[in-house]
Amino acid sequence: MAVLLPGGAGYIGSHTAVELLNEGKEIIIIDNFSNSKPEVLDKIRKITGKDFKFYEIDYLDREKLEKVFEENKIDAVLNFAGYKAVGESVQKPLEYYTNNISGCLVLLETMRKYGVKKFIFSSSATVYGEPEMIPITEECRTGGTTNPYGTTKLFIEQILKDTYKSDNTWDICILRYFNPVGSHESGLIGEEPKGIPNNLMPYVARVAAGTLKELSVFGDDYDTPDGTGVRDYIHVVDLAKGHVCALNKLDKEEKGLYIYNLGTGKGYSVLDMVKAFEKATGKKVPYRITERREGDIATCYADPKKAKEELGWEATKTLEDMCKDSWNYIEKNS
Ligand code: UD1
Repeated sequence: MAVLLPGGAGYIGSHTAVELLNEGKEIIIIDNFSNSKPEVLDKIRKITGKDFKFYEIDYLDREKLEKVFEENKIDAVLNFAGYKAVGESVQKPLEYYTNNISGCLVLLETMRKYGVKKFIFSSSATVYGEPEMIPITEECRTGGTTNPYGTTKLFIEQILKDTYKSDNTWDICILRYFNPVGSHESGLIGEEPKGIPNNLMPYVARVAAGTLKELSVFGDDYDTPDGTGVRDYIHVVDLAKGHVCALNKLDKEEKGLYIYNLGTGKGYSVLDMVKAFEKATGKKVPYRITERREGDIATCYADPKKAKEELGWEATKTLEDMCKDSWNYIEKNS
């Protein structure tokens, strides 16, 4: 029985593919390379020494997707396909709603047709909007997303809840990622944002590398210890391992719809990140304080207790690991 990974060549998908293969699971990747590269597949093979099947298809293509289900014995689906750039989603809402939501619907309908009902969904802490409390627990209110990307995550969560309610033979796990950073220690796979990065860590890494001049720190007047935004940065390998634990839970336990935060429970400010990156890499990261960025919140970090208790999962990598591994990837791939 295989695990299907739509979007498995992407940043989080590729790291999860590695961890699943390391655990001895059989995987099948489908990807249309809209935000990833074919080389990633061989890199996954190189890291793990294991092979897997790959189909170059768009998950919106129902016919081709059905063929994958016909040709293989699929037991579970981990969905990593979807657009993820916040700013772009504001410019292209229809593309985001179509790709993320319709894509997921085609996937769920195909799964139902072939009797595959184990599903793990990549959600985001963005569904909490302005958080009700810090640290954020899974019981906190969701809603109030500030961009179409975040709203696609919120809507898909609702679709999954309604699907489970209508038919409790589904077995669903929603994973709410905090801020994934870093890359595999081999430096072979990592995050490759298109154009100028929007997220903090890839931007910092490019300033350190000299490809970007300086970091703009978006506001230093937030109600946080140093005035800059505080986030829960989590190493992508820890995050990937969270998926293996989630899959094991779905395999073992009663059917249900489960929701987990995947974060470290620790919050670091933008300036903490700059300092940590400089210390871990010995590179300078020049920065300038600028205006706040629209839609940003002051503080966002997880209460990761539920994942620890129910999945037996906990993030173990440090901020230093996150910085070193991000840098290692940049150095090896530029
Ligand atoms: C954003 C998205 C989130 C998504 C995540 C992916 C929102 C509101 N946020 O989170 O949905 O899942 O990316 O990792 O939808 N910063 C700077 N200068 C920069 C870039 C960032 O100061 O050039 C600051 C931001 O103001 C923030 C922190 O760094 O305080 C982290 O920003 P970023 O990496 O973009 O992540 P989030 O906005 O938390």
